[in-house]
Amino acid sequence: MKNINVGELRWNVVDQGVGQPLLLIHGFPLDHTMWQFQIEDLSRDFRIIAPDLRGFGASDSNDAPMSMADFADDLARLLTALDVDSPVNICGLSMGGYIAWEFWHRHPQRLSRLILCDTRAAADNTETQNTRRSTAERVLRDGTDFLARMMIPKLFDQETLAQKSALVEATRQVLLGTNPVAIAAALNGMAEREDATDWLPEIRIPALLLCGVSDSITPAEEMQQIAETMSDSQYVTIPQAGHMAPLENPRACNRALRDFLGA
Ligand code: MLT
Repeated sequence: MKNINVGELRWNVVDQGVGQPLLLIHGFPLDHTMWQFQIEDLSRDFRIIAPDLRGFGASDSNDAPMSMADFADDLARLLTALDVDSPVNICGLSMGGYIAWEFWHRHPQRLSRLILCDTRAAADNTETQNTRRSTAERVLRDGTDFLARMMIPKLFDQETLAQKSALVEATRQVLLGTNPVAIAAALNGMAEREDATDWLPEIRIPALLLCGVSDSITPAEEMQQIAETMSDSQYVTIPQAGHMAPLENPRACNRALRDFLGA
């Protein structure tokens, strides 16, 4: 792990391996540890950069509202601070995917290939926005316990929940330990995010879309449709996995990533 200053904040980031940079953007409300199996395997062939986003994990928070665009700009600044000036491969899961769309939109010259895991392109409807806003208020008032109870069963496939209890428990602990202020900021940021659907036909760089077969948060069919709308994309379904496909079935995910990235 590295601690690196980006602007006024101190960031916690894994910077491991040599080769083409591969930036891994974690989902909500987690941290870089959700990429543990990708870091371990892919750092043999790539320079893996896996930060804790602002306010998450061990990175500082300045308690400011955060849009997906703010997170994308943070990552561009982080790459500069790490002396990465050539275009990078970006892989984002769920909220990390929302940030990856914004990164493409705002910093296209810094991006060479895009990997989207268990995410969507469409913005929230009004009902989802309202739920996010009330969840943000509740987490500030009551803390993270209720959110862990609500989210953990939805993040994983039934088989993962039954058979990989250490992994599920580690994820629960990350969620429970996340700063409620950062959680609320990200919930409000997701509620306000741009709809990336119209951007899809304009994305001409190669893209890989992965989705766990039993993902109940982001249905696999929706990701397949996103892939069909993009000009240079591949779609892969990950078996024995729900929303946390890279953590639940790292073998299948890493194989798809390696095939796509040519390693
Ligand atoms: C995530 O895994 O990042 C979240 O499920 C994203 C969301 O709530 O839309």
